[in-house]
Amino acid sequence: MVSERVHLLSLGDEMADVEAQLEPAFAVHKAEGAAGVEALVARHGSAIRAIATRGRDRLDAALLARLPALEIIANYGVGYDSIDAGAAARRGVVVTNTPEVLNDEVADFAVALLLATVRRLPQADRFVRQGKWLEGNFPLGPTLRDRTIGLVGMGRIGERIARRLAAFEVPIVYHCRNARADVPWRHYPDLLAMAKDVDTLLAIVPGGAATKGLIGAAVLRALGPDGIVVNVARGSVVDEPALIEALRSGTILAAGLDVFADEPRVPKALLELDNVVLLPHVGSATRHTRGRMGQLVVDNLRSWFEGRGPLTPVRETPWPRRA
Ligand code: NAP
Ligand code: 8YV
Repeated sequence: MVSERVHLLSLGDEMADVEAQLEPAFAVHKAEGAAGVEALVARHGSAIRAIATRGRDRLDAALLARLPALEIIANYGVGYDSIDAGAAARRGVVVTNTPEVLNDEVADFAVALLLATVRRLPQADRFVRQGKWLEGNFPLGPTLRDRTIGLVGMGRIGERIARRLAAFEVPIVYHCRNARADVPWRHYPDLLAMAKDVDTLLAIVPGGAATKGLIGAAVLRALGPDGIVVNVARGSVVDEPALIEALRSGTILAAGLDVFADEPRVPKALLELDNVVLLPHVGSATRHTRGRMGQLVVDNLRSWFEGRGPLTPVRETPWPRRA
């Protein structure tokens, strides 16, 4: 194992199992909130060689510049938009994430959220709890029947979602930049064109600058009054004010959201709407899958410090390094 203790910065809650596995080979410095990060960086910045992060704290070029000994950032999650991976690459820092181990969990969840949104399951639950059933039946609602689902993203998780949705016998199409020859569904290089042809969008793309506001006012208008948007990607992928306006005005019918622009703060306007299902970013949140994600964080760190390289480096920091 590691011959001398590696100073590691641990960011975010829910990392206790990861930290327990890393100690005693690593000297774990646990940071609580932005002030905690600042204090730890000020005190141990020159010694920190590794970061394990829940992915909620922003790791930008300015912070990385204060960590001259940093070698690796291990992200607990497949999406790593909170990390400036380009800046890490320029500093020779490897970034790892947790692909594959959460595919099925998140795909199951995405289908569940789609069905909950279309069939208004949380609203029906509230109806029973509030005693309204005693006064009459729950109103008839929308259906998955006759819908066409447009997946925004056809990567590891998107493909698993599409395969599950195929069992529901609904037409499926998808948008991303590069068509995939190995899937049977129609590819739209243009999201607006796809939105005109479908009534349901399900987003499962990475966050970050390239996808910021991808689903905006024009796409929502194209989706139309029966339109449903499900977002299990990142809050930044949907223009949140445009979505609120579309839900309020009837430009679209409903939305199911697991992710938000400024988590855990959800806009009051969304909380007040009845045609939206709101969840606290729980797509992968089971003991089974979070355990697998945590194990991959640990395995990446151990592999790196035992001289075997990273197991799952991100695209921006390939391994072996490009010449
Ligand atoms: P992946 O395998 O890398 O797939 C990403 C997909 O997005 C690909 O089809 C990619 O195709 C497409 N894409 C990337 N940039 C795009 C752009 N600018 N415009 C249009 N399409 C774009 O990733 P994954 O493992 O499926 O995960 C996807 C994302 O899901 C993660 O990054 C994360 O943000 C989110 N996620 C959320 C949860 C949750 O708890 N809610 C859990 C896990 C993951 P092209 O490159 O051809 O465009
Ligand atoms: C996690 C996720 O909630 O993997 C991702 O990209 O969004 C989720 O699995 C997150 O990474 C842990 O904070």
